[in-house]
Amino acid sequence: MNGKTVVCMMAGALISLSGAFAAERPAGRAEAKSGEILIAYYSWSGNTRFAAEQIQKATGGTLFEIKPVKAYPKDYKACVDQARKECPAGFRPELASKVADMAKYRIVFVGTPNWCGTMAPPVRSFLASCDLSGKTVIPFVTHGRGGMANCEKDMRKACPKAKFGKGGAFAGAGIRKAGGALKNWLDEVIAVRKQPK
Ligand SMILES: Cc1cc2nc3c(=O)[nH]c(=O)nc-3n(C[C@H](O)[C@H](O)[C@H](O)COP(=O)(O)O)c2cc1C
Repeated sequence: MNGKTVVCMMAGALISLSGAFAAERPAGRAEAKSGEILIAYYSWSGNTRFAAEQIQKATGGTLFEIKPVKAYPKDYKACVDQARKECPAGFRPELASKVADMAKYRIVFVGTPNWCGTMAPPVRSFLASCDLSGKTVIPFVTHGRGGMANCEKDMRKACPKAKFGKGGAFAGAGIRKAGGALKNWLDEVIAVRKQPK
């Protein structure tokens, strides 16, 4: 092996290494006008809705509630039983409505409760139902102690053509007192530009 070959191999290794990091690296702090920001979320018991509303207030973006045609059981145990079947299978329930004008949004916050270590099935349906290529998806998750788990990773897999901002994970039980943590994360992931009047 001569010197040139070694240099080529090292350069190749560096390029593939930087590619591997680029796939996982957050896109950095996104910049957008409030009219370009969508906050889509699913919430079963209200925690993720609360987080979504805080993001809406801070950014001026548009809220969109992801609703399955057939609501999940109100009973906790029945809901967990159903989720335990659906989540590992990657099930996608039919949704009741669509975002009216997806083309105008560049930044899409996507909120989900952590269900069985991944996103709730309606969120999987949402990601499959819209074209997110070239848009920046910023995941946010509320959980019962399991943190982000595979939620962000599975969202990335579900929309490989989207860019991703750094996801935020917040304990559901403390979400109404997590203003500081939520605000710090928002400051890290987005800068909202003023809309011209
Ligand atoms: C069906 C179901 C499955 C859940 N699975 C998990 C889990 O695997 N890990 C976890 O930390 N919390 C789990 N939780 C708790 C929720 O993630 C947590 O309470 C969340 O804040 C609920 O958000 P929501 O009020 O927006 O529905 C689960 C809750 C439900 C109803």
